[in-house]
Formats: sequence, structure tokens, C-alpha cells
Amino acid sequence: MSHGVTIAGTGSYLPEKILTNDELSKFVDTSDEWIVTRTGIKARRIAADDEHTSHLASKAAERALEQANIAAEDVELIIVATITPDTLTPATACYVQQQLGSHKAVAFDVSAACSGFLYAMKLAKNLIESGSFKNALIIGAEKLSSFVNWKDRTTCVLFGDGAGAAVLRAAEEGEGRILATDIGTDGKQTHLLNIPGGGSACPITIDNAGERLATLAMLGKEVFKHAVTRMKNSANTVIERAGLQAEDISIVIPHQANLRIIDAIASRLDVPNERVFVNLHKYGNTSAAAIAIALDEAHRTGEIKKGDKVVMVAFGAGLTWAAAAIEW
Ligand code: ACO
Repeated sequence: MSHGVTIAGTGSYLPEKILTNDELSKFVDTSDEWIVTRTGIKARRIAADDEHTSHLASKAAERALEQANIAAEDVELIIVATITPDTLTPATACYVQQQLGSHKAVAFDVSAACSGFLYAMKLAKNLIESGSFKNALIIGAEKLSSFVNWKDRTTCVLFGDGAGAAVLRAAEEGEGRILATDIGTDGKQTHLLNIPGGGSACPITIDNAGERLATLAMLGKEVFKHAVTRMKNSANTVIERAGLQAEDISIVIPHQANLRIIDAIASRLDVPNERVFVNLHKYGNTSAAAIAIALDEAHRTGEIKKGDKVVMVAFGAGLTWAAAAIEW
């Protein structure tokens, strides 16, 4: 008899270098006061030049595998969610497979921006349930510092680098399980948030190299409005599918983009602020890595305990959105 799919281990990795708002203000026309008031972000991590997205991903994955007590060579599926791949091809997951020594694993990336980790979770859950794979390593990893325009104060203050991972496998009797998932996309809004250059639509050439087109461009106010509505709806979908009420939810782990968005979601879901996990003051927005890192921190610090009902909800470029309800 199937007992669903469980999260057997989590892990995260943050690069050592911390860039505070005050340090950032020395080379960008901004201030700690503006950034904290508008976003809640106080610092972000910046990966070293020779530390690629795959390296961050592999370090987070090693920690998750250790906790799950699964050897790297026994991993069957690796999905890396990222918008900042090491290379356009091959997939970052292929580098991770090699770095971990998971030579039997099928490895590929998903590109769904900040919703990517939860897209990967749904995919992996369904592939395990269908019997295609016994286990899966899902990773959200980003080196956004390589894809922001450090001269654009409206975006560069928001993002940071990091990685988080989870190991999924078939649940045994009495173990927690993923109760419900939801993913969605609105391709009418691709213009709100994108990296316009570096793809086939706009290759980087000698002529346009100075325009920094391979960096994140965002219409922040528009994104903000969509984020609140889509995240609220997606969270409510999984809460309903899982048969939960607001008072059953032990912790909400929202995408870590902006404290004002997080507060708006919490009030619309009728969940008190103390049950909403926040770490964006330390790391900024790490896109696909954000929920994965938050899940690992909440787990390792004991904020998630056995039997807890956890709701994760994300929103990002695409536009994409996603949510998952889990019994831990
Ligand atoms: N420092 C100082 N001033 C600034 C800065 C800065 N870093 N950035 C902008 N300003 C100025 C602007 O120039 C503007 O000045 P003006 O009034 O003289 O023109 C003023 O501050 C207000 O700018 P707004 O853009 O209107 O500020 P807003 O309150 O909307 O906050 C923010 C901007 C923080 C980006 C917000 O819109 C937001 O968080 N949006 C959502 C982003 C998000 O959730 N993204 C998630 C997905 S990310 C992904 O998928 C990769």
C-alpha cells in the first residue's frame, strides 16, 4: 500500500561572503533605510568567482543526502531548479551529478524562477508515485550575483546567492508526506520580469555588450500586485486539497522576496505572523533557492516538528506560481 512521498532530508548552503546594505550603499546610490523599509532585506550572500551555481547546489545536496541517509551513488533522479545555470547547456543538474558522484541518476533542470523548487517537488513526487524512480534529489540553486546589473539600484539590492535541497522518496508507514501540490503559469506576463539578453531572442554581441542585457529586469510594482494574488490563491488551493483549515497550519514558508508581500500573504491566509517563516533579512531574494533554504533552516532549527502541517508558496518570473502542503 502506498503511503505517499516523504521528504527524507533537507540541506542548504550559503556562500561565505556577506554583503550588507551599508556596504552596498558605498557603490550603489541607495541606503540601508530604503532597502529595509521597502523590502525587509538587510544583507545577502555573494558567491566567489570560482563558485558556480552547481557548486552551491552540490554542497546543499550533500547535506540533504547525509540527513536522508542515502548514498550519492544511490540517487536516481536529480532536478535542479535555477534561472542562473552554470552554462546554457548542459543543464546544471549534469554538473551536480558529476560533482556528487550520482552516476546512475537522471539529471535535468527546471526553469520556473522563484517557483522552481516547488515545480521540481511536484515533478519528483509524481515520478516517484508513478514508480519511475525510487528517490529524487531536488535542488533550488542560484548565483544571481552574476545576473544582476550592479548599476541598477531598483534590482541589484534585492537578490542574493545560495542553494537548498531536499531528498524525496516513497514514504513508509507513519512517516510524513506531501499532501498536496499546485503549480501554475501566466505567459501573458513575461515582460514583467526577465533576463532579456543572452538567449536566442537577443544574443549578446560586441555591439550590445555595454547594455548589460543579460541581467534581471523587473517592473517591481506590477510584479508585487500579481505576487500577492497568485500566492494567496495557490496556497489556498493546496490548503483545500489537503483538507486543512488555517488553524491547522503550523508554519507557512513563503517565497522570500519582500517582507511586505509576505505580510500581505499572511493576513490573506489568516495565519498569524509568528507562524510565517522569514529569513530574507539575511539572504535577500535567492529565487529558486529561497524556499529550499528556508525549509532546511526551519527544519534544522526545530521550527518544524514531526506531524506539523507545512505550507510553502512561491511566485516568480513567467509568471509562475506554486504551492505545496506537507505533513512533516
Ligand atoms: N534605493 C533608493 N531608492 C530607490 C531604490 C533603491 N535601491 N530603488 C528604487 N528607488 C527609488 C525609485 O527610483 C523611486 O524614486 P522616484 O519616486 O523618485 O521615482 C522610488 O524609490 C520608489 O520606487 P518604486 O519602484 O516605486 O518602489 P516600490 O515601493 O515599488 O518598491 C520593490 C520596489 C521593492 C522592487 C517592490 O516593487 C517589490 O518588491 N516588488 C516585487 C518584487 C518581487 O516580488 N519579485 C519576485 C520575483 S523575483 C524572481 O522571480 C527572480
